[in-house]
Amino acid sequence: MLDSLNFTELTLHIILSRRHHMQRLVISSSLDPDSRSRLMARHAVAALEELGQPVDWLDLQETPLPMCDGSTVYGTSEVIQVADRVRTAQGIILAAPVYNFDVNAAAKNLIELTGRAWQDQVVGFLLAAGGQSSYMSIMSLANSLMLDFRCLILPKFVYATGQSFKGDQLTDSMTVSRITELAESLANVADAVLKA
Ligand SMILES: Cc1cc2nc3c(=O)[nH]c(=O)nc-3n(C[C@H](O)[C@H](O)[C@H](O)COP(=O)(O)O)c2cc1C
Repeated sequence: MLDSLNFTELTLHIILSRRHHMQRLVISSSLDPDSRSRLMARHAVAALEELGQPVDWLDLQETPLPMCDGSTVYGTSEVIQVADRVRTAQGIILAAPVYNFDVNAAAKNLIELTGRAWQDQVVGFLLAAGGQSSYMSIMSLANSLMLDFRCLILPKFVYATGQSFKGDQLTDSMTVSRITELAESLANVADAVLKA
């Protein structure tokens, strides 16, 4: 196919395929239609786009996934496609709700389904919670990604409670600026890791 392209088309093809490979993946894992972590994830997308970064958006409300059975599910097309998006991303921001001092089951299920696709990824987290005291709830998942799949976990993690929101808006400027910092960090660190 490449043989038939003229110079301009070929240049465009190279730029577009590079852009595809340079995509940052932002995942929203809450299944609540009024999700707050989803709002945080949308801010992360906006911050990355502001930096000129191509973004792939994966919302588990729009892309429902089967429960992991550790067996036949790995052969399903939706799991193969999502694993591919995780594998090809250059940096991932995972937004999740805190449920029972952990991330919600949908986020955990995504990791169970896509496991090795996370190998050597740079990962940042956005967490929405009901109260301040659950702020270490991400550690179990972070440790698993770090130890199982050698992920580089960004320390700039953002945790927000209901106080940061009014209605369907993220209103706390500190939370917004921390999300921007996380987005910058993701792009910088993922690029540095790629060059190393
Ligand atoms: C089943 C369930 C368990 C929860 N467990 C916790 C918890 O352990 N700690 C906490 O701070 N908030 C907890 N919450 C509150 C949620 O973290 C909070 O509503 C958050 O906004 C959910 O994120 P989302 O709006 O993106 O869905 C829980 C909520 C539900 C529904």
